[in-house]
Amino acid sequence: MKTKLYSIGDIAEIIIHVGLDKLMDDTIESLTAACLVFNETDYSIPARDGFNYTKPETGLLEWMPAMKTGDEVMLKLVGYHPNNPDRRGLPTILSTAMTFDTQSGHLSALMDSTFLTALRTGASSAVASRILASPESQNLGIIGAGAQSITQLHALSRIFDLKNVAVYDIDESVSNSFQERAKPLNLQGMQITACSLEQVIKSSDIICTATSVEIGAGPVFFDSGLSPGVHINAVGSDFPGKTELPYALLQRSLVCPDFLAQAIKEGECQQLEKEQIGPDLVALVKAESGYRAYQNSTTVFDSTGWAFEDYIVVHLLARYGQQLGCGREIELSCISTDPRNPYAFLQR
Ligand SMILES: NC(=O)c1ccc[n+]([C@@H]2O[C@H](COP(=O)([O-])OP(=O)(O)OC[C@H]3O[C@@H](n4cnc5c(N)ncnc54)[C@H](O)[C@@H]3O)[C@@H](O)[C@H]2O)c1
Repeated sequence: MKTKLYSIGDIAEIIIHVGLDKLMDDTIESLTAACLVFNETDYSIPARDGFNYTKPETGLLEWMPAMKTGDEVMLKLVGYHPNNPDRRGLPTILSTAMTFDTQSGHLSALMDSTFLTALRTGASSAVASRILASPESQNLGIIGAGAQSITQLHALSRIFDLKNVAVYDIDESVSNSFQERAKPLNLQGMQITACSLEQVIKSSDIICTATSVEIGAGPVFFDSGLSPGVHINAVGSDFPGKTELPYALLQRSLVCPDFLAQAIKEGECQQLEKEQIGPDLVALVKAESGYRAYQNSTTVFDSTGWAFEDYIVVHLLARYGQQLGCGREIELSCISTDPRNPYAFLQR
């Protein structure tokens, strides 16, 4: 009874074998396919919970569980510490995921999930955008140009023939470093420009907001000057009181949450009444052809981050790990020679 450990080095090895673009494509397709067959009786996905603190610094540690009935439990722990990049040289979002065998309760796998979180957050925006944004979209706008914005660009570049990327961050040094950070991606023929918020707003067919705006400090832009059929992936609102989009915009848009029960507490949907909210991601994917009619209207994907997305990406990575022989088996748990004697492992 060993535990499969995937360090960030193992994940890098998998990416080298699979390729970054194929991994993103597979994540987008796996998530789409999983949404198509999703049935609430097949999964148990309780609301996430966690610790929210202001000491020693503003931060959040949350647990996000998901169980496939008769299969595995996936548990992701995710931290949000917006001072990390500047004060510690660490990502704002740090995360670890684990899976448990539901027959024995044994910890079957443990993996870094910081990259996987960014990967699946990009992929879920791509799944929603493929349905809701005009397929001719060429101009992407980024508001909040930190870690998540890179996988937003990557995922959308796999679906749309993007020509221009307009980037705005409240911290100019972050906007200016975006192009360098996006270099591992295959972005030939794409013009990336750091610019003003107004330029992003007026030039974009698709906008991704991925800011660390503080609770109560939103919106990060006003409902003025946007392109008529703009699609917005609102990625940064994921906590009670933390929102990025103006109410006026939400009111006139088709707003699609990833996970309704969570979005009304933590997402842009906090600002709306239930009857103002559109289909969730699963309903959107299942009735894709009907919702394509909104491609010339203003639409919003309210992305709060759903444990189901984590379940899918963790299993995708574990499948690759298995195929490629990546990852390491370790004896982490106390597997005793006498299951009724907690000290028996000392005699081994
Ligand atoms: N929806 C999801 O599934 C999901 C997943 C991961 C992270 N997130 C959220 O996405 C957000 C971004 O995460 P990250 O990992 O990229 O963080 P990050 O710290 O790397 O980047 C956030 C950036 O937002 C900028 N910013 C803050 N306020 C702004 C404003 N008003 N206008 C423009 N820029 C502003 C900051 O300067 C920073 O560069 C966080 O709020 C995080 O909680 C959501």
